[in-house]
Amino acid sequence: MIDPRGAVVGRRLAGVGRVAAFCSAKGGVGKTLCTTVAGLALAGQGKKVGILDLDFQGSSAHVFLGVAPRFPEEEKGLVPLEVTDGLCLMSAAAFAGNRALALRGPEVSDAILELLAVTQWGVLDLLLIDMPPGIGEEVLDIGRLIPRMEALVVSTPSSASTAVVERLLAFLAEMRIVVAGVIANMVRGDAEPVREMARRFSVPFAGEVDFEPCIEDALGFPQRLAKSRTAAALLTALHAADLARETRRKA
Ligand SMILES: Nc1ncnc2c1ncn2[C@@H]1O[C@H](COP(=O)(O)OP(=O)(O)OP(=O)(O)O)[C@@H](O)[C@H]1O
Ligand SMILES: [Mg+2]
Repeated sequence: MIDPRGAVVGRRLAGVGRVAAFCSAKGGVGKTLCTTVAGLALAGQGKKVGILDLDFQGSSAHVFLGVAPRFPEEEKGLVPLEVTDGLCLMSAAAFAGNRALALRGPEVSDAILELLAVTQWGVLDLLLIDMPPGIGEEVLDIGRLIPRMEALVVSTPSSASTAVVERLLAFLAEMRIVVAGVIANMVRGDAEPVREMARRFSVPFAGEVDFEPCIEDALGFPQRLAKSRTAAALLTALHAADLARETRRKA
């Protein structure tokens, strides 16, 4: 049976220029930090940006952005929460608050579809998606629901990260999901292992973000995050990945 919500998703995203998902098979490499800080940095440049937190079990984008979870307002759909001028956020935390969301596989797929079908993004240059760790259901689902989605793959230079992220790059190629760029994060010296991995998979290396010890103190404070060195490095990386252009569409 055809689920009518699938057809609604394309209409809901009609005003969105580009869709890019920060993903990594590896946990804890900085997907959420990169998504949220990139969103703030682009909004600071006058872009209209939305962030969709798809990490249902570990949703934390609202914590990084200092947004208290509250039920979204309804207006021909659910309106994402406003973070700053030009940046909005939709997260399962808006519905579940700090309660744990215990979802099985098919329920995760259903929740992704539901969130995409109800959210009223309006006109955006860019929708950034904060993906959960792993090469699982979420990547398959979102790739199927938003075929034009591009991936921004995050890895640290450690072999503990690249060894796992390689599998994601192979999987994305198999799924024919375009990789807009690979970002080396938490770099403390040499980002060459990540560059080399990008070369091996013939995908663009977008740039590197140094380990910034004081970023931890800025979590929850959007203005401080937007002024961080991480924000400047991510803007450079997004330009390199050609994702920082104005791409607003008419809704
Ligand atoms: N460039 C950086 N400099 C310093 N700390 C960083 C940097 N990037 C990420 N971190 C820190 O590393 C930790 C993990 O980051 P984050 O939660 O963004 O990773 P993640 O990939 O989203 O994790 P998960 O897989 O659990 O979703 C956080 O405490 C974050 O502040
Ligand atoms: Mg995360």
